Amino acid sequence: MGAGVTGMAAWRIVLWIVLSIPAGLMIRALASGEALAMDLYHPSGELALRLMLLAMLVGPLIDIFRPNRFLRGWLAVRRNLGVAAFGYALLHLAFYVLDMRALAAMLDELSLPSIWTGWLSFVAMLAAASVSNDWAMRRLGRRWKRIQQAVYAAFVLAAIHWWLLDRNPVPALIHLAPLLVVWTARLTVNGRRKLNTKDVHP
Ligand code: HEM
Repeated sequence: MGAGVTGMAAWRIVLWIVLSIPAGLMIRALASGEALAMDLYHPSGELALRLMLLAMLVGPLIDIFRPNRFLRGWLAVRRNLGVAAFGYALLHLAFYVLDMRALAAMLDELSLPSIWTGWLSFVAMLAAASVSNDWAMRRLGRRWKRIQQAVYAAFVLAAIHWWLLDRNPVPALIHLAPLLVVWTARLTVNGRRKLNTKDVHP
């Protein structure tokens, strides 16, 4: 048990190092003048969305395939992936603030659907990230799961944000597709399992 916990802690450290590399590269590019803040919107926003996707896929996959070693390991780092997704959304927002420079300019474009969808997505991520710890989990009881479900809204809003900014639905839909596939597969598998149980215990 002790060795297992230490092994997992080591994996988490490796994971956090890997997760922080893109952030380091983006900050270095900005600091060296190699990139402008506006050039970093795309990589930071895309990574935030992809990490959120990774955190959201594992639950349905476990329901479909039942837990195995790989999925259990993935599940064990799900919360880290979610927190890292929020970290990249925060970095994305920092690039936005640096690019816009003035609060008035930011308020000015807040009424644009392509921008307020980004803000709403960020607020939903903030809600989920703020309860992503054991203390909040114990304190909130059943409400914890409901607050965590804000990530679904965050994900859909971020995909709409991307779609509106890009004026091309394809990249956002490509990121939504894996979730739609696993959700549909889970519904089908659960339906079949229920039918099988009824056959055994009519
Ligand atoms: C906090 C509020 C947010 C603001 C103000 C904001 C603003 C922006 C802006 C100005 C752009 C660049 C548009 C352009 O290239 O012309 C952008 C791009 C993007 N944002 Fe956000 N964003 C926010 C939150 C988010 C969040 C939470 C996510 C994902 C979880 C996200 C994902 C993206 C993606 C993927 C792009 C790239 C779109 C492209 O390359 O066309 N954004 N955002």
